[in-house]
Amino acid sequence: MPDVIATYAFVPERGTAPEEAARWIAEEETTGTWTGISTRVEYVRRLDGEVLEVTPRGNGYVTRIRYPAEIFEPGNVSQYLSVVAGNLFGLKKLESVRLLDAEFPESLIPFHGPRFGIRGIRGLIGTLDRPHVGTIIKPKVGLSPKDTAAVASQAALGGVDLIKDDETLTDQAFCPLRERVSLVMEALEEVKEETGRQVLYAVNITTRADRIVARAEEAVNLGATMVMIDVITAGFTALQALAESPKIRVPIHVHRTMHAAMTRSPVHGIAMRLFARLVRWLGGDQLHTGTVSGKMSHDRDEVTGDNRILTGPCLGLKRVFPVASGGLQPGNVHRELEVLGNDIVLQAGGGIHGHPDGTAAGARAMRQAVDAWMEGISLEEYAREHHELERALKKWGVIHG
Ligand code: 6PG
Ligand code: MG
Repeated sequence: MPDVIATYAFVPERGTAPEEAARWIAEEETTGTWTGISTRVEYVRRLDGEVLEVTPRGNGYVTRIRYPAEIFEPGNVSQYLSVVAGNLFGLKKLESVRLLDAEFPESLIPFHGPRFGIRGIRGLIGTLDRPHVGTIIKPKVGLSPKDTAAVASQAALGGVDLIKDDETLTDQAFCPLRERVSLVMEALEEVKEETGRQVLYAVNITTRADRIVARAEEAVNLGATMVMIDVITAGFTALQALAESPKIRVPIHVHRTMHAAMTRSPVHGIAMRLFARLVRWLGGDQLHTGTVSGKMSHDRDEVTGDNRILTGPCLGLKRVFPVASGGLQPGNVHRELEVLGNDIVLQAGGGIHGHPDGTAAGARAMRQAVDAWMEGISLEEYAREHHELERALKKWGVIHG
């Protein structure tokens, strides 16, 4: 039976040989502990972790560890994480350790993946191959349902494809979910009648585990065309529960708030790569993977590699739409697209609602930047005949590589 192979970058504690440090990981996460034990009977040994190799890299080492498939409970991703990303991070034998990736055999991926994926979402909106433009309502919290709907309406009129709640907005008293969804959907219906355009609204249904599916169903019954989950704070199995619920037949937008506590350090933590794999298996239709020129810290190769996990071949599972977000404005659009390609959702909050002429103009400017890209024209040149883009570029400038 093919096994699980996990790759870690690590720096051993002073005085510990790299091979020994790697062995500590393999033993801690499988059948061993800090000392020999009399209960580790012979038949248990087939479940031992195995250090396949240890090679120097930078100031430390990289090791590949084989975990026997049999120690995993098929379909239980919480348990998968407890093995490949478990206690090892706290071992004193390692000064630092970062899980770079883990590959699982087909037998441990009994999941149906995204229901919609890139193709399905393009079908709902009616686009063939252009990048999508999304917005987060800003201010991210504080607006009443009525004002949220008014901002959504302006963004939709300006031409965005997707409107979403912020990761911190759920069902607070100042903006109750029921009223917000009803009013936003009403506003988007009006825009649809006027323009013929379908704009999706991702409602953040993140809540406690035992209520999240019911909350998502409620949002869908109120007309939500997408649901959104904060997957790290809610848990991967909450995403799984949503994706497997027969009543939630809308795409799932997956936000990764809190991820950087684990993914940001180049020497310690968990690379985004594994989370991207899990989200695709478990049925996320869109996932935030970062930008290459925005406000958040990023590593270009990691972002493009993570997007390949979402969009490359994977056991016939549908492709997840990567979402680039954080500090984007029309002046970043070409830079993002030349690195990330056209199968991407470019999301702008401040870069739309901060436009000198308001939200609708801001949305128009983002779309114009995308149109310029599709026509192969530079932003500066396109701006000569597109007023909203011109105004945006004057305020924020053009971001080059
Ligand atoms: C979200 C956003 C958000 C993001 C920025 C967006 O989807 O809620 O991803 O978390 O990182 O804050 O806002 P700006 O475009 O204004 O940076
Ligand atoms: Mg946000």
